[in-house]
Amino acid sequence: MHIEIAYEDLAKTNHCFREDFQSIFSQTLIQGQFVLGQHVADFEKSWADYCQTRFAVGVNSGLDALTLAILALELPPKSEIIVPAHTFIATVLSVLQAGHIPVLVEPEEHTYNIDHHRIEEKITPQTKALIAVHLYGSPCKMDALKRICGQHHLYLLEDAAQAHGARFQGQKVGSWGDLASFSFYPAKNLGALGDAGAVVCHSEKYFQKINLLRNYGSTQKYIHSEQGYNTRLDELQAAFLHIKLKALDRINAHKNDLATLYHAHLKEDFVKPHILPEAESVYHIFAIRHPQRDKLREYLLQKGIQTGLHYPIALPAQEAFLGKWNINDYPISKKIAETQLSLPIAFFHQKNEIAYVIEIMNQF
Ligand SMILES: Cc1ncc(COP(=O)(O)O)c(C=O)c1O
Repeated sequence: MHIEIAYEDLAKTNHCFREDFQSIFSQTLIQGQFVLGQHVADFEKSWADYCQTRFAVGVNSGLDALTLAILALELPPKSEIIVPAHTFIATVLSVLQAGHIPVLVEPEEHTYNIDHHRIEEKITPQTKALIAVHLYGSPCKMDALKRICGQHHLYLLEDAAQAHGARFQGQKVGSWGDLASFSFYPAKNLGALGDAGAVVCHSEKYFQKINLLRNYGSTQKYIHSEQGYNTRLDELQAAFLHIKLKALDRINAHKNDLATLYHAHLKEDFVKPHILPEAESVYHIFAIRHPQRDKLREYLLQKGIQTGLHYPIALPAQEAFLGKWNINDYPISKKIAETQLSLPIAFFHQKNEIAYVIEIMNQF
């Protein structure tokens, strides 16, 4: 038996929404409102409700969401902001693009999230904020991070780009921090049909500020109270996202079922992700580790199984940051980059396909 298993197939993932998408596209085309209309307002309201926050503001991407969230804090220029060393590059870029200094902290080896024991040694008088990244869909230890931020008077931001609907101690991620950002990049658990993102917060002050920043510093046409950006969520993307949002819990539950199979049946040779006992992951990514990762990846490919790498080069070693950090100071991030492998866990995957992946993996 030879089965082909794609890592991701966005046409398949979106197949069941096709008729609703086509219908909303036709309606929007007839109405003719493409920027900042009712679809954006409706989606923002639903997204804030879903995240257990008072406000949500739709923007153009997850990177812009996080950059605007940082800008909303109005920190002194070149403030230090603590970020995990193991994350997607956008987390670090958002700090730089907002005019601040990213300070990298190593992750925990088994949860892949920032190691809260290593944060305080990096705090200086210039440190103003911490960004918790719920990597792979798995929540950070939010009680510890909140306590550290409280003790050191730091703002707490959440990069929840990979964790739509995940919870820590029963409370949704995105609702723990002062502000939180989400990406709706097509491959995310809640994915648009193009780029999209959102900021959520409880504070009206931040809400007003992000609204201004995303739209040229303006809430009234041609009246500009500050120098803003153009990073609005499109009407069509908001409409598509609103349709999919109704299915998000079902998508997350399905991915959780697939993850349960991996947890139960993959051999101990593979290091499986550790989810904190107080946390509910949404398994955007199912990340395992193996010392012979590249050989394993090639073996799986020969058997028709595609996998992913998140991420193949540790951030401090990326060419974009040449001279900024020394990779030898980040041995855990380096080790993860060398040994991590992402297994198929998309909405369209069937349980029997995952059982096949497990069977083939256990023969490695
Ligand atoms: C952890 C993390 N932060 C931020 C982003 C940025 O999101 P976007 O690609 O929508 O700009 C991503 C998206 O890939 C991400 O995974």
